[in-house]
Amino acid sequence: MPPPRIHVSDDPARTVADVLVELARSGGSVVLTGGRTAGAAYAQVGALEPDWGGVEVWWGDERCVPATDERSNYRLARETLFKGLTTQPIVHRIPGELGPVAGAAAYERVLPQDPYDLVLLGLGSDSHVASLFPVSPQLAERDARVAGGPAGLDPLVDRITLTLPELLRARRIVVLATGEEKANAVARSFAGAPNERYPGSLLQTGDAPIDVVVDTAAACEL
Ligand code: 6PG
Repeated sequence: MPPPRIHVSDDPARTVADVLVELARSGGSVVLTGGRTAGAAYAQVGALEPDWGGVEVWWGDERCVPATDERSNYRLARETLFKGLTTQPIVHRIPGELGPVAGAAAYERVLPQDPYDLVLLGLGSDSHVASLFPVSPQLAERDARVAGGPAGLDPLVDRITLTLPELLRARRIVVLATGEEKANAVARSFAGAPNERYPGSLLQTGDAPIDVVVDTAAACEL
């Protein structure tokens, strides 16, 4: 498996928006991420490509809150990405309001059998991806496709997350990280050996090509 490709961009949000536009134009399946960084990319997509009729959308994780809650990853996508579209994708929302056990079970029932064309991930300052936090039972899960449990970072609400094997069922993985507070996580995750203390580093244990989109601040420890 080739090592992760690092892309230092002066506009990471636009770089990721262009990846999403490419997917919308070709059609396919995408796993979206939550987080503020991704929201800046989502907000640019509608003006570039408003027709998402050929796209099917899942999420890598969700907070166990109602879909209208400002902490909801679904709400983030609705307010930044879907709002700007003229043709909506097929959307498979994670029912976070059901809680970590029932919500995970319900979400697992709608997951596809085919690999995801694109898995988009953010990166926490602790190197978590989706809601797979360092040395957590959810990160260690290798049989289930979805897991639920407590958060390791703010917002400290229970989470529902795709497991590592499920995230690795991707034809392509793109990770977005910006800011100096992510520099150590970027270096540990993409310039080091796989280590459960740095969940981002476990992405390279799969077969999917990995593109890491960063700004110069997040790249400064590489
Ligand atoms: C979540 C996200 C999470 C996020 C990272 C980075 O539910 O919080 O899925 O994995 O992508 O924590 O978040 P920021 O971009 O806000 O730093």
